[in-house]
This record gives sequence, structure tokens and C-alpha cells, in this order.
Amino acid sequence: MNYFSKIIDPERILIASDKISQTPAFVYDESAIIEKLATLSKVKKNSSCQILYSIKAAPMTGLLEMIASHVDGFSVSSLFESQIAKEIIGDSGTVHLTTPGLREDEIGSVVKYVDYISFNSLSQWQYYQGPLQKDVRGDGNRKLNCGLRINPEISFVKDERYDPCRKYSKLGVPISELENIKHLDNIQGLHLHNNCESSDYTELKQTVDHVCLLLGATLEGMQWINLGGGYFIDDEKQQYILEQIIKDLKDTYALDVFIEPGKGVVGSAGFLVSSVVDMFESGGKQIAILDTTVNHLPEVFEYQYKPEIVQENPEGNYEYRLAGCSCLSGDIFGDYRFEQVLSIGSRVIFKNVGAYMFVKANTFNGINLPAVNILKSDEELVLEKEFLYADYRGKY
Ligand SMILES: Cc1ncc(COP(=O)(O)O)c(C=O)c1O
Repeated sequence: MNYFSKIIDPERILIASDKISQTPAFVYDESAIIEKLATLSKVKKNSSCQILYSIKAAPMTGLLEMIASHVDGFSVSSLFESQIAKEIIGDSGTVHLTTPGLREDEIGSVVKYVDYISFNSLSQWQYYQGPLQKDVRGDGNRKLNCGLRINPEISFVKDERYDPCRKYSKLGVPISELENIKHLDNIQGLHLHNNCESSDYTELKQTVDHVCLLLGATLEGMQWINLGGGYFIDDEKQQYILEQIIKDLKDTYALDVFIEPGKGVVGSAGFLVSSVVDMFESGGKQIAILDTTVNHLPEVFEYQYKPEIVQENPEGNYEYRLAGCSCLSGDIFGDYRFEQVLSIGSRVIFKNVGAYMFVKANTFNGINLPAVNILKSDEELVLEKEFLYADYRGKY
């Protein structure tokens, strides 16, 4: 089943893009996000797990406000993410932090916003676990719930830059080192996250089976386990496997089980609308320069992949090399075919760019950041954010 096409109607995005006067601009399709959250709610209902949204994928306040009422909390990786997460979710959900970079000068602020911390290493745990068991917030009742991030030492990600279990990994305590530790003082849960863009929950099953085999006795004394993110939620068979994994964990160890997807919630809901600003021929190829750049979609350059475009048609008669407007010669999206001729002013819409793009986007060459819009379920297009010269100047 192609879940993407079931939820997202490209015609709606094309109509919405006509309402945008200034490009480039991100558009988030609210109904696509709500569908994903509805699927996650089903997983929750069938397996009694708790759903967190990993805000690093797209932390825009408008999105967080929309997502907050559908999830049990947010997962975060820094002080600023902790603060925005707590400000938005308030007391109606919990905030869960894990980071290799816990800083002593920030910890006093971090604890005001987070409810759960998963230490990334044994040294972090040794350093912070004692102090964090005290009444750190000074409000007399809310103690922090502490856990340990483990590295299950099972890799599924081919590119080691994105593999949390790569050799000499910095992410989590290697499970082989934990096996021999009999007691983890003040640790109530385990956190793991070892995949990226996977649709195959048998990989999660393999991971969890391995963890249970090596750390079953440790899990007996725990309150919770966080299975991380890194998976899409796009087919019923896979959804069933996930539910079974969660149910087995709950039946065997009576644990609260968290999952924390990011891209799986917002990735396919995000579009970048751009316009052609110049066209010319170079060495026999038609070049179309867009008013955007790979620096607005940095993972295109980072991963060296060709992003999908709403209007492309591999059978189309017209081929163009779509290039970004920065001075970098490699600022190129790729060669695409279209049914219609492109001309200056034509709209070109990138799809599937809702996660890890805007948050990593930069203003290299002084090119302004794209605005951010939400296409509401009733087709209203709401401008969430736009950037001005003052933002650029203020940054430098
Ligand atoms: C600890 C942790 N949890 C959750 C996520 C979210 O992953 P994804 O957006 O692939 O679902 C990440 C992503 O890097 C992560 O590092």
C-alpha cells in the first residue's frame, strides 16, 4: 500500500501553493500529520504504549501545538528543545531528554523542563544520578525519572554517519558492557534508538529480543523502556508487529513502553514550494535556477539524494536540471522531466521534506530562509513564520 498517496492529494498542495505570494516557502499538510497521529493512536489503543513526538525533526511551534494534544509527550535532545517542549505541552504531557552533551552549566535549567532523562553513558549516570534524585526542581514533589540509553549493538543503517550502533559509537552504553553490571542505582528505565527511516518492524523485534536476552534480569526491576524512533508507520502489517513487540514487553516485564517517532509523523507532510528565477542552456542542458537552494533542504546535499517533486513526470517531454540559487556549484537538485514547459515564475514543489530540513536550513550566501505555512484541514493556508533582513542581520 502506498500510504503517501492515500493521505496526500498533490492537487490540494498545488492549489495551496498558488495562494503563496512569496517563495520559497514550506507548507505542512495538517491532515497528513493528523492521519499519522491517528495511526499512532491506534497503536497506543491496541498496545497501551505511550507516544512521544521527537521534536528534533521539526520543532516549529505551530506544529508542536497541533501535535501536542495527540501525544503523551515530546522527546528532546537539548536545553532549548526541552524548554520549547515544556512550554507547549505544559502539564498535559511529559518531556523526555537524551543527549550525549548534558552540560553542568545547563542542568539546573534542563530539570525545570524535563520529566525523564536517559543518560547517554555510564559516566553521565555516575556524575548526575545522585544529584538528580534530590528535589531538583525545588517544588517538593516532582523528582526526575532517570534512565540509561543503551547501544543494542545491532546495526541496520548502511551509512555509518547515521548508524547509532556504528563502531566506537558515542550513543548509549554498549549492551555488552552492561551485561555484567548487576545493579543500576537510581535507574528506572532503558532507552534505545538504533534505526533510521526503516519501515521494517522486524528490525525492532530483533533489537528488542536481543535486549531482553542480554538484559532481561535488569528489565525486571525497571519501570519503563523507550524504543526510540527511526521507523515509519505506514502499513498495517508492520503496525501489528510493533503492537506485538510492545504487548510482549508489557506482559513479560510490566513496563511502560514509549516510542518516539519524528520523521514518521511529519516527513511526508512537508513540502517546499519554490519558483524558477532564471533559465538558460549550459553545455546542451536546460538549466532552471530556483529561488531556493540545497541549503534549505540540507539533507539533499548531506545524503546526496534527489528529492521528489510534485510536478515531475518521468515520461514528460521537457527535461531540466534544477539548480539552487547559491554560489556553490554543487547546489543542484537533479535532472527532472515535466509534462509542461517551465518558465520564469513556474512553481516547483519538493515533497517529503517535512523532517530535518527546515531545522537544518541555513542562510548561506544571505539567501533568506523559507517561510513556514500550515495547510489546515479546511484548506485555509496559515502563515506560521516568515523571515526578514532583521533576522539575518541579528544572527551575525
Ligand atoms: C534518540 C532519538 N529518538 C528519536 C529520534 C527520531 O528519529 P526519526 O525522526 O527517524 O523517527 C532520533 C533521531 O535522530 C533520535 O536520535
